[in-house]
Amino acid sequence: MQAVWKLSKYIKPYILFAIIAPVMMVIEVSMDLLQPTILQHIIDDGIAQNDTSYIVKMFGLMIATSLIGLIGGVGCSIYASRTAVNFSTDLRHDLYETITYFSNSSKDKFTLGKLVTNLTSDMEMLQRALTMLLKIFVRGPMMFVGAIVIVFITARELFPILLIVVPILAFCMYYFTALSGKLFHKVQKVVDVVNTKVQENLAGIRVIKAYNRKNHQIEQFTGVNTQLMKRSMEADQIIGVLAPFTMFVVNLGIVAALWMGAIKVDNNTLQVGVILAFINYLMMVMQGLMSSSMVLVQLARAIPSAGRIVEVLEEKTDLTNPSKPEAKVIQGNMSFENVSFSYLKETEPVLKNISFHVNAGETVGIIGMTGSGKSTLVKMIPRLFDPDSGVVKIDGLPIGNYSLEHLRQSIGFAPQKATLFSKTIADNLRYGKSDATAEEILQALQSANAKEFVDKLDAGAEHLLTQGATNLSGGQKQRLAMARSFIRKPSILILDDVTSAVDSISEKTIQRAIEEQFNVVTKVIVSSKISSIRHADQILVMDDGKIAAMGTHEQLLRESPLYQEMAKTQAEKGVTLSE
Ligand SMILES: Nc1ncnc2c1ncn2[C@@H]1O[C@H](COP(=O)(O)OP(=O)(O)OP(=O)(O)O)[C@@H](O)[C@H]1O
Ligand SMILES: [Mg+2]
Repeated sequence: MQAVWKLSKYIKPYILFAIIAPVMMVIEVSMDLLQPTILQHIIDDGIAQNDTSYIVKMFGLMIATSLIGLIGGVGCSIYASRTAVNFSTDLRHDLYETITYFSNSSKDKFTLGKLVTNLTSDMEMLQRALTMLLKIFVRGPMMFVGAIVIVFITARELFPILLIVVPILAFCMYYFTALSGKLFHKVQKVVDVVNTKVQENLAGIRVIKAYNRKNHQIEQFTGVNTQLMKRSMEADQIIGVLAPFTMFVVNLGIVAALWMGAIKVDNNTLQVGVILAFINYLMMVMQGLMSSSMVLVQLARAIPSAGRIVEVLEEKTDLTNPSKPEAKVIQGNMSFENVSFSYLKETEPVLKNISFHVNAGETVGIIGMTGSGKSTLVKMIPRLFDPDSGVVKIDGLPIGNYSLEHLRQSIGFAPQKATLFSKTIADNLRYGKSDATAEEILQALQSANAKEFVDKLDAGAEHLLTQGATNLSGGQKQRLAMARSFIRKPSILILDDVTSAVDSISEKTIQRAIEEQFNVVTKVIVSSKISSIRHADQILVMDDGKIAAMGTHEQLLRESPLYQEMAKTQAEKGVTLSE
């Protein structure tokens, strides 16, 4: 409920629309409520008395009220949808922005599937609930109460029937609302599971095929899908039972009205028109109750959605921007001072007391076993994560002193897993520098030894990548990601194992290009191959989150048993250590 309250601020800009809509609805319902009474007068005072001019007059009134009612109804729909659509557009915008600025730990926490559900079906649910709220929340209760009041005033003789029918109807509605609320809640849960499964299957389609797990996945999916079918049927059946049952109760009421009415008409204590009007009002009572309960069900379904959305909106980005950011140009002197970090606070740290210093223009190589924390270490530099303790400094200042934009602008980062977008190659490179010229793009492609394969493509740099760049090889992807980090002309260049899928000849070319073009840039090069880092000014040997040894290639070969071991096995495997 609190979540709903928090989201209500998104209605504020459209508050006028949100007020007009129910007001229009009040007009429509008032006109609807008038109709049976007019009909009653036509019958009792017009037809019964043979008064044609009266009949015509009342007929005119009936048409007029219908028209006014129509205007009210249409107006309400227009303003209700305007409010709801604007509301959800603004909210979706904020949601999207929040997700974009998410820290990495938040992204891990929410998972992609959940966030997509959030942006799509949860938003849809909220929008529908709001439209219904503005339209029917007034209509249902007003019709219900209005009809009862009018019967009390104009057809008191038949009022006792309402005293019996209404409580029965109200009880049924209450019972069904509560039940279907519960059932729909279950449906929603299964929908979440189905969404996650679809997401997972599509994302992993290649792996599934390669491991011949297709049937297994289909079985799994069929399982959850059947569950969804069963739950949806349960929920729908409840509504299916509700409608005929209420109709039955109402019909009993009509029979009672006709029977009681007939006797009274015989005694001349009641006119025929009153009975007809009463039957109409009885229908309205039922409609009013039914639509009120439907709104309640819809609202009950929307509340968890609101909760989920607010949870995302309120997720704090643990990365804060300084109020007075340091604006000086970043040179690239960098030091880690006792940096420790863990992804999950209760587990053992992934980085333990990391300290080292690198001067601007120098190269630091990072090598170590898989899982030793290399990628985690370099992610500290553009503040993808902040350390739990210790500090990372650039040009003598903690990186927290620079604004995130300024810091990241000065860093070229090619992450271990090359992420490319479903755009052209040139557009992908422009993520590194939005105003990059064709020349710069060419240059970057060349440095990353990617020009050759790009040239072979039909459209060259204008070649359109598929989603996830599935139309490229692993090494091609890595080279494009590298080109994207080059193009930015950074002060600090971070390459996280970007040559793992690149052949050794290409790697040499790339190394040479980096040395030539980025000689004043601080280079942080992560690799599991000694050949990639042996020329670094300083090499960090990582082992289980700690720096096990530090020094140049020659020093480490002499002093570090771990490095010697790596050198030995890599030499055995035929990885060339020498030029
Ligand atoms: N997002 C994450 N959430 C939780 N734990 C993580 C996350 N990313 C990495 N880890 C854990 O942190 C440790 C270090 O991972 P990291 O990716 O830094 O290793 P690495 O040295 O880069 O390995 P590789 O050579 O395979 O790339 C691993 O034990 C890994 O399981
Ligand atoms: Mg890694």
